[in-house]
Formats: sequence, structure tokens, C-alpha cells
Amino acid sequence: MSTPHLQAEPGDFAETVLMPGDPLRAKFIAETYLTDVTQVNEVRNMLGFTGRYNGHPVSVQGSGMGVPSIQIYATELIKDFGVTRIVRVGSCGAIQDEIDLGDVVIGLAAGTDSTVNRRRLEGRDFPAVADYGLLRAVTDEAQRRDMAARVGSVFTSDIFYEPEGSNTFALLERYGFLAVEMEAAGLYGVAAEYGAAALTVATVSDQLKRGEHMSAEDRQTSFDDMIRLVLDALIPS
Ligand code: HPA
Repeated sequence: MSTPHLQAEPGDFAETVLMPGDPLRAKFIAETYLTDVTQVNEVRNMLGFTGRYNGHPVSVQGSGMGVPSIQIYATELIKDFGVTRIVRVGSCGAIQDEIDLGDVVIGLAAGTDSTVNRRRLEGRDFPAVADYGLLRAVTDEAQRRDMAARVGSVFTSDIFYEPEGSNTFALLERYGFLAVEMEAAGLYGVAAEYGAAALTVATVSDQLKRGEHMSAEDRQTSFDDMIRLVLDALIPS
């Protein structure tokens, strides 16, 4: 039973799916952290894998960038492949001064300039929030590891390159948003519609207030810490 974007068989995906934006990152995560790995999707090169962590099945599926893309994959995973837990594992740009490159931001809630959730609720506002159980599991694990994880609002933007003269980041800072990224609000809307649990965990790759950006090597290392955090939080040992 394939869907338009996932050419896989029933049972190919585990109930828990990690979703990085980059399909090659999905491959890297599967090959580095999981055992017994099989590739379960390659439509549009949006690679998906299923393997085991501590002996338990886990999948990793690329989401692509932005709300429309993650919504397509999340919808098909939940509706057609029985996925019940999705954790987006990505990067973000910090808005607040006290957040540093490499810190992990956990998206308790997501504001957005995307209209998708308003369309879902026929014009009404939707509270795009993470699943409390997932949030608690990951924050508890972060505390156990003494990891600098920040929990709060993220802003899901449809625009990566802000127009010149834009006041967006100052406004977001004033309202306490921790970071900007491009998928969380879309993922939370889909999860709510189809009754799944979702969470966004993102490593700070850009400090937008100070104009700092991570090197390629640092990206790799801090991303690794975040993947271990999520896997150890969600998968029993
Ligand atoms: N904007 C949006 N998404 C991001 C950014 C950013 O600056 N950095 C990493 N993901």
C-alpha cells in the first residue's frame, strides 16, 4: 500500500519516527544509531529507514524543508502507516540573546506565519503545541544529561530569507520566541488532526541576534548529541 510520497509496505515504518529535514541526514542517523536498518522509502529521494534502537523498532524519514513538505510526509505516515509518534529533529535560528550556538531548543509551542492551521479550523486560531508526554520524556532526559535544553515557543516561518528591513526577529524576540525554524507548527497541526503525538527538537545552528553561524563540523557534533537525547528519551533500554 504505497502513498503518493512513500513507496512502502504496511508495517515498514515503526510507530516512532524521527524526522530530519535532510534525507541524507535521515540516512546518517539510521546508519549511525540504529541496527538492522532497511531503507523503506526513496520516492523523490526523500529517504526513509527503519531499524532498531536498544532492540526496539524506530524509523527515520526525511521531511524536506517547510510546512507543506513536512505535512505531506507526516500525514501519510500517520494516516496510512500507523505512525503514532513523530519527533522532528532539526536546526533552528536563535532569537534570544542568551541562547548559544549548539544549544538544543524544544518546541513547547509554535507560532507561525503559515495559514495552514487556520485553514484546518476554518479561520479559528489553533494552539500548535507539542505532545506533553514526548516533551516530558525529552526534557527529563536532557536534565539527566545536564544538557542545555531550552523549552519554549518557536516560530515556524514560511520565509528563510527575511525581506530586507523586516522587523520580524525583533518582534519575535519581544514576544519571547526562542528560535525560528520552518516546520513545527505544520507538524503539530497534522498530529492534532490525525491523533498522533508530535514534538520538535532543534539544535541552534544560527544565532540571529548576534549574526553567528555554526561551522559544518560543529553542526555534526551538536546534531549527534540531540539525536542521542531523543532516542534515549523515547526508546526503552
Ligand atoms: N531560519 C529558519 N530556519 C532555520 C534557521 C533560520 O535562520 N536556521 C536554521 N533553521
